[in-house]
Amino acid sequence: MATRRTALGAGLGVLGATLTTGAALLPTALRHRAEGEPARTGTKAPARAVTVSETDRFRVAMPVPPVLRPVSTRGGRDVYDITMRPAECEILPGVRTGVLTYNGSFPGPTIKARSGRPVVVRQRNRLTMPTSVHLHGAAVTQENDGDPMDTIAPGADRIYHYPNRQPHASLWYHDHAHHMEAEHVYRGLSGSYLLTDSVEQALPLPSGPYDVPVALRDVHIDGAGDLAFSMGDPERTTIVANGKAYPYFRVAARKYRFRLLNSSNIRAFDLRLSDGSDIIRIGSDGGLLPRPHTTDRVFLSSGERADVVIDFSRYPVGTEIVLENSAPPGDLARIGQVLRFDVDRTAPDASRVPSVLRSLPRLPEPTGERTVKLTMAPPQAFMDDKVYDPGRIDAFVRYGASEVWTVVNANEVFPHNFHMHLVQFRILERNGQTPPPSDAGLKDTVNLMPGETVKLQATFDRYRGTYVYHCHMLDHSAMGMMATMKIG
Ligand code: C2O
Ligand code: CU
Ligand code: CU
Repeated sequence: MATRRTALGAGLGVLGATLTTGAALLPTALRHRAEGEPARTGTKAPARAVTVSETDRFRVAMPVPPVLRPVSTRGGRDVYDITMRPAECEILPGVRTGVLTYNGSFPGPTIKARSGRPVVVRQRNRLTMPTSVHLHGAAVTQENDGDPMDTIAPGADRIYHYPNRQPHASLWYHDHAHHMEAEHVYRGLSGSYLLTDSVEQALPLPSGPYDVPVALRDVHIDGAGDLAFSMGDPERTTIVANGKAYPYFRVAARKYRFRLLNSSNIRAFDLRLSDGSDIIRIGSDGGLLPRPHTTDRVFLSSGERADVVIDFSRYPVGTEIVLENSAPPGDLARIGQVLRFDVDRTAPDASRVPSVLRSLPRLPEPTGERTVKLTMAPPQAFMDDKVYDPGRIDAFVRYGASEVWTVVNANEVFPHNFHMHLVQFRILERNGQTPPPSDAGLKDTVNLMPGETVKLQATFDRYRGTYVYHCHMLDHSAMGMMATMKIG
């Protein structure tokens, strides 16, 4: 572990110095902070990172992002308006931090959608940078995919059409502007998009207030209270849940469903409960698993989702259980705790986790195979030894094909992951073996530790057009670890 940390720190530290765009991109208003806050007393621009000390954690409640209300529901579709704009929020208690937001919310508001019912989102870019909005995990036409080059100019608006012709899934939307996705997402441009369907609705799973989206990420807040951004920054060691550092969340002694999303740029989470007790994993990127499986650990690389049920009825009222993380980088004292569940009441619970949740379509016979190699040598990162060039097609895929892709992380120290737009895929093998239960279900993003190989199968029968695939450690994709496929 020490070796990998050193390597990451050394390699990327240098990179940070050359590629830092950071505060330079933000309007002056965003950089301004109120006087007299604890983080900045006495000094002019202290560079030291600020965080919440271990003794001061769990003093702020974890918010649940607001559910966005449609401006129209006529004509069988839901229309939403979103304004991308700067805002300030308290990630650390008492410290105002400038962020980039969808509608002023950090993270962005949750969109709730239903399969078969289209959603239309009018995105108004009131930032000073071009943006592009991608609905991660969705099958949409090329024009609506939020391609890196298909951007919304500052001051302009753009309408995205989401047909929702796919089964339920915990999707998320985030910025994807070429070379800027890493910084934009880091500064706040992401939100949840929960797509449901009749299969999911028919199940007796915890619902309503007991079904809670939780976006996990890390931040590096500097001594002035600003979000510090440099590529590959190993100092992003303050852990944030739904926009707050180390919050508590009051729960009743009953079952809850949590839609965990890792919205970090590069951090992975290796999650467990502080008492080591069971977590029931019910879903993945592309919705529910065929069957639940019980575990004590949930690993999530950037962009991945895990749908879990935690049964707090096993705890007496008054119990506090911490959700812990053990994935580097950073000192365990900083990154080891995520949020605390405080069991503060009892509540009736008619919910259940059935032993069968859904059935997945049979995998068709593969029609072809290809390999993809991920490598990084900062300050560049490569897909098949090439840096992303939006003008180049890297893979021609026949419409209707069902292909097996062998994805190799050829780096010895850097973890990577692999995300494809447009499709949900299935993992066939990990390192030549049957994949573990954590690889089950429909996936759109898969983690690859150094040296790992994953075989996946994707079927390209949705839309024709060009779509990207990339490492979802967004600092890596912004450095070039991205490529284009053309389905036609
Ligand atoms: Cu979530 Cu191309 O990304
Ligand atoms: Cu995506
Ligand atoms: Cu990567």
